[in-house]
Amino acid sequence: MLTCFTSNTKHSTPIALIIQKNFSAWLKKQNSFTKKYLESTRFRGEAGNVALLPNSSGKISQIICCISDINNFWSVGSLSLTLPEGVYHFDSDFDESDLQRFYMAWGLGAYQFMRYKKANRKPAQLSLPKKHNEIINIVESIYFVRDLINIPTDDMGPSELADAATKLAKQFRAQIKHIVGENLLKQNYPLIYAVGRASDDAPRLIDLRWGNKKHPRITLVGKGVCFDTGGLDIKPSFAMLLMKKDMAGGAHALGLARMIMQAKLPVCLRVLVPAVENAIAGNAFRPGDVINSRKGLTVEIGNTDAEGRLVLADALTEAASEKPELIIDLSTLTGAARVAVGTEISALFCNKDEIANEVLLHSEKQNDPMWRMPLFAPYRDSLNSSIADINNAGSDSYAGAITAALFLKEFITDDIPWMHFDMMAWNLKSRAGRPQGGEAMALRALFSYLQEKFNVT
Ligand code: BES
Ligand code: ZN
Ligand code: ZN
Repeated sequence: MLTCFTSNTKHSTPIALIIQKNFSAWLKKQNSFTKKYLESTRFRGEAGNVALLPNSSGKISQIICCISDINNFWSVGSLSLTLPEGVYHFDSDFDESDLQRFYMAWGLGAYQFMRYKKANRKPAQLSLPKKHNEIINIVESIYFVRDLINIPTDDMGPSELADAATKLAKQFRAQIKHIVGENLLKQNYPLIYAVGRASDDAPRLIDLRWGNKKHPRITLVGKGVCFDTGGLDIKPSFAMLLMKKDMAGGAHALGLARMIMQAKLPVCLRVLVPAVENAIAGNAFRPGDVINSRKGLTVEIGNTDAEGRLVLADALTEAASEKPELIIDLSTLTGAARVAVGTEISALFCNKDEIANEVLLHSEKQNDPMWRMPLFAPYRDSLNSSIADINNAGSDSYAGAITAALFLKEFITDDIPWMHFDMMAWNLKSRAGRPQGGEAMALRALFSYLQEKFNVT
């Protein structure tokens, strides 16, 4: 299915992966043609340098790719769409476990979003040894997440997001249930209903289950706001422009579920995605309204643009009711998290230090940046309401990512290990292996953590 890999090894061109500091030693061992060619083209073997070496008949015989260090697998991330079409293979003495991530970077860099426009070219193909087939799962799952985010809301509203989840469930023989429209009220999801009721595409809760009930239970919850206008507290146009991506948390939850199911991780998985559109119409929820929550806490609406925490609150209440071993929620929750750590780092909040520390180690190893932020209890005061149990927006504009996380914390219980991710899920510009547009963030680190923690084999 992935056109950037092949099992074919015939007539393939080697790509020599050379760590910068080893370049001069490597050069000494080459024949005089290679030495002269690299010298005459002023190739210095610095990190990021790539050379296409010809043979005497003028055809490419070898690719030289210089990298800063063994962990910088992104160095090969742009090769699949810059090298001429054809078949290549890695020529390197790296450990297989390190090399694995170079294959992954090649795959991630070959992504092209082609739903509305033809691609200019096909990716070059890398010969993938069987023992590295595992990375196909990661690459395909990340393509799946990117596609869901990139598809505009007109083709990826709540019903289409639900269809994508149903298709995924069928593919992996998972069970799936959707609670749609007024059934949300009947089944006590009042916040999800309130946020999504003004849209022509009815709000819904996607509920997927997979795996053996005897295995440890993991529940993933993803913010599925298919478009965020801000509601009656309407966003200015520059802030609304990218808001088709506000369902990225839902896409991430489904993408991580895909990785888990494909790898047959011995866990009992549940995925909850409240899928809504935060639209504007006569029946939209309003600033000042007080809405009951699934948990029973009344919520005063300080701002209709703080809708993500509302839909997540009802979903988290349901997630926590089963007391799973771990709850992970994923969301594009606040602009404040972007002010705090920028667009490339995901903000992590966690109520258990040990788990947070383990996940951070995987974040580093996988080059999947995240930073832990505090669930600083004294800031809970800013969510106080004089007429309801809690307000959905802080009373001042400080520490918005923390107050959003503290809002969510009200809806779980402290005995359940919980991680909350507030992420950008979008590359503003293209970088090697990470094309501009929708992006899976924190997922490689999380999957690596879950594999280590739960894969007993
Ligand atoms: N979806 C936005 C947050 C967002 C904005 C994420 C830009 C990534 C990039 C969210 O629903 C929102 O609008 N949050 C408000 C909350 C505020 C009104 C309390 C925000 O962050 O400004
Ligand atoms: Zn919003
Ligand atoms: Zn939002």
